[in-house]
Amino acid sequence: MTSPSSKTLLYQEFSERMADLIRHGTYPPGERLPSVRQASQQNGLSISTVLQAYSLLERQGLIEVRPQSGYYVSTRTDDRLFPEPETSSPQRDPSLISLHELVMRLMKDTSNPDLVQLGAALPNIDSQLTQKINRIIANITRQQGEDAHQYQFPPGLEALRVQIARRAVNAGCNLFPSDILITSGGVEAIDLSLHAVCKPGDIVAIESPSYFGTLQILEVHGLRALEIPTHPRDGISLDALEFAIEHNPIRAVMVISNFNNPLGSLMPDEKKEALVNLLARHDIPLIENDVSGEIYFGEKRPTVCKAFDTKGLVMLLSSFSKDISPGLRIGWLAPGRYRSEVEWLKFTLSASSPTLPQMAIAEFLESGGYDQHMRRIRRDYARNVKLMSDAVMRYFPEGTRLTRPSGGFVLWVQLPENVDSLELYSLALKGKITLAPGHVFSATYQFSNFIRLNAAAFDYATERAIERLGDMVVELAGRK
Ligand SMILES: Cc1ncc(COP(=O)(O)O)c(C=O)c1O
Repeated sequence: MTSPSSKTLLYQEFSERMADLIRHGTYPPGERLPSVRQASQQNGLSISTVLQAYSLLERQGLIEVRPQSGYYVSTRTDDRLFPEPETSSPQRDPSLISLHELVMRLMKDTSNPDLVQLGAALPNIDSQLTQKINRIIANITRQQGEDAHQYQFPPGLEALRVQIARRAVNAGCNLFPSDILITSGGVEAIDLSLHAVCKPGDIVAIESPSYFGTLQILEVHGLRALEIPTHPRDGISLDALEFAIEHNPIRAVMVISNFNNPLGSLMPDEKKEALVNLLARHDIPLIENDVSGEIYFGEKRPTVCKAFDTKGLVMLLSSFSKDISPGLRIGWLAPGRYRSEVEWLKFTLSASSPTLPQMAIAEFLESGGYDQHMRRIRRDYARNVKLMSDAVMRYFPEGTRLTRPSGGFVLWVQLPENVDSLELYSLALKGKITLAPGHVFSATYQFSNFIRLNAAAFDYATERAIERLGDMVVELAGRK
C-alpha cells in the first residue's frame, strides 16, 4: 500500500514532469494536455494522483481547465505583460565606491549548495559540455604533457589568439592575433585596462546600473565612478555622456555594449559608432566589455564598438566564462594603442595565464565544438530567459517591471517602489534562495528596489523559488 508521504511525492513528481514538458515546449501555450484517463494509463498512475497533479499545475498558473473540454496549457502570461524599467537617472557627481562587504556576502552564497542560485551570473554548466572539455584536456595532457606546463608569457598562446581573431570577424572586427592578449578571465582584462589608462582619483564614466565586478575594480583602484543614464533596451545615453564629458575630466568610459549585465541592453550599430566617434573627438579611451556577445538569441552575432575604432582607443575585452567555463579562467583583451603598457602590466602582475586551459579552449574553438555548443546554449538560454520572465509575470505583483533581453541570461527586475531589495534578499536567504540585490549595481546606492535574476539553469526548482519570491515581494509591498 502507498503511504501518504509517497503518494504526495508521486503527484508532485508527475506535476514536475508535466511542468518540464510545458516549459520545454512539448506542450506549448494553448495546447490540450492528455486527458486524466490517458495520463493515468500512460504513466501508470491512479486517476486521483493525476487529478491532484493537474490541480497543482492549475494553481501554479501553468494550465487551465476548459469546462467539458479538458486541461490546456495556460496562455495567461501573454495578457499580463509587465512594462520595462525606464532609463535610469543616477546622480550627476562622480563618486568613490564602497560596496565590497555586500559583494563578498553574495560571493559566499554562490558556494552554498543549499541555496537556489538566482544571484551570481553563473552559466549553466551541463554534463554534455564538461564531458567534451574534459576529453580535450585529457588528450592534451596525453599528447603534449610538457608543453602544457610551460609559461605562456604575454600575449599568451598563439593558437588561441588565432581562433579569437578569426571569430572577431563575426563581430565586425578585423583583429590580428598580435592585437590580442590572453588574460585570466574578464575580471583581469577589466583590471588591466583600467590600470593602463587611469590613476587613483580619476573619473571613469560607467553605465547605470553597472556590473558590480566593474565597480569593485574601480573601488580597488581608488577611481571615481560617474554613472550615466542608461536605457534597458539600447544602452547608455550619448547625450548624457556628452554632457558629462563637457563638465568633467573623464579619463575613460566603460560599457557592456551587447547584452549588458544586468540590463540585457544591446546598443544598436549606429549608437556604437556614434559612441566611438564621440570619444575619439575627446581622445578618451573606451573599455568595451563583450563577455556575453556570443550569447545572442537572434540570427546574427551583434557587432562591437571596436569595429568602428580607427584610432586604437577602444579596448575590447571578453571571456570564455559565460559561454564555456568560468573555472578555466580564460579571457582576452584587444587593447588597441595601449598594447605595450597592458602587456607589461600583465607580465609584471601575473606573468602568464595558465597554459592548459588556453590549449583546451583553442582546441575546442578549432575543432568546431564551440560553434556546436553555442548553437545549443543560445537556444537553451533564450528559452530559459522566456520561462523566467513568464514566471516573474505570473507570481510577482502589479507594479513590477522587467527587462526584455535578446541575449545573455540575466533579468533585471524593478519591484514596486516601497520594496527594499536588501530586505527581500534577507527574506530570500531564509527561504533558501539567493539573488543579487540592486544596491550592488551602483556606486551611489541607486536601485534599492531592483533585483537581478539569473535564468541560465531554469528548472522546476527555479520556478518554485520565483513563486516564493513573488509571495515575499507581495508581502513587502503590502507592509509599508
Ligand atoms: C559583464 C561581466 N564582465 C566580466 C565578468 C567576469 O568574467 P570572468 O569570470 O571571466 O572574470 C562577468 C562575470 O559575471 C560579467 O558579468
